[in-house]
Amino acid sequence: MRRRLAFALLALSVAAAACDRPPAADGLREWTAADHDRNDAKEKSGAQAAGQRGPQPAPRGSGGGGGDNNGAAVLIEATWKAQCLRCHGPIGHGDGPEGPMYKPADLTNADWQDKVQDADIAATIKNGKNKMPKFELPDSVVQGLVARIRASRGR
Ligand code: HEC
Repeated sequence: MRRRLAFALLALSVAAAACDRPPAADGLREWTAADHDRNDAKEKSGAQAAGQRGPQPAPRGSGGGGGDNNGAAVLIEATWKAQCLRCHGPIGHGDGPEGPMYKPADLTNADWQDKVQDADIAATIKNGKNKMPKFELPDSVVQGLVARIRASRGR
C-alpha cells in the first residue's frame, strides 16, 4: 500500500514535469508490473529531458530569430576551437599548439586580408592548401569561419 502511494506520487510528478498530459489517475488503478516498467522508463526519459533543459542554455530553439544567430555564433566558435585552433591559434596568428609544426600564415595580416577574396578563403577551408587539411563542413559553417577570419583583421 505504501509503495503504491509512493508510485502514485511519482507518476503524478512525472506527468506534471512532462507537461504533456494531465495527471490522470487511470493507469494507477489498474497498476501492474508492466505498467511499472513503462512508467519507470518514462520517468527516466522525463528526468533526462528536464536535466538537459535545466542548467544549460539550449543551443537549438532557444527562442525565436535572435536565438538562431546566437546558436550559429556558438557553432562557429566551437568549430574554430575544435578544427582550426590547433594550428592557427585562438585568433589566427598561427600560434596554436601545432603552429610550430605547420607554420600557417598569420590570418589576421591586413595585407593578406586585402588581397584575398572571401571565396578564396572558403575554397582553402573546403579544399585545403599544401599542409592545410581540407574540411568537409556545411556551407553555412564555412561562411561563418570566413566571417570570423575577416573579423580578426589587424587584431
Ligand atoms: C593541421 C594544421 C591546420 C589546421 C588544423 C587548419 N589549418 Fe588553415 N592553414 C594551415 C597551413 C599550414 C596554412 C598555410 C597554407 C599555405 O599557404 O601553404 C593554412 C592556411 C589557411 C588559410 C589561408 C589560405 C591562404 O589563402 O593563404 C586559411 C584561411 C585557413 N588556413 C583557415 C583554416 C580554417 C578556417 C581552419 C579550421 C576549419 C584551418 N585553417 C585549419 C594549417 C592548418
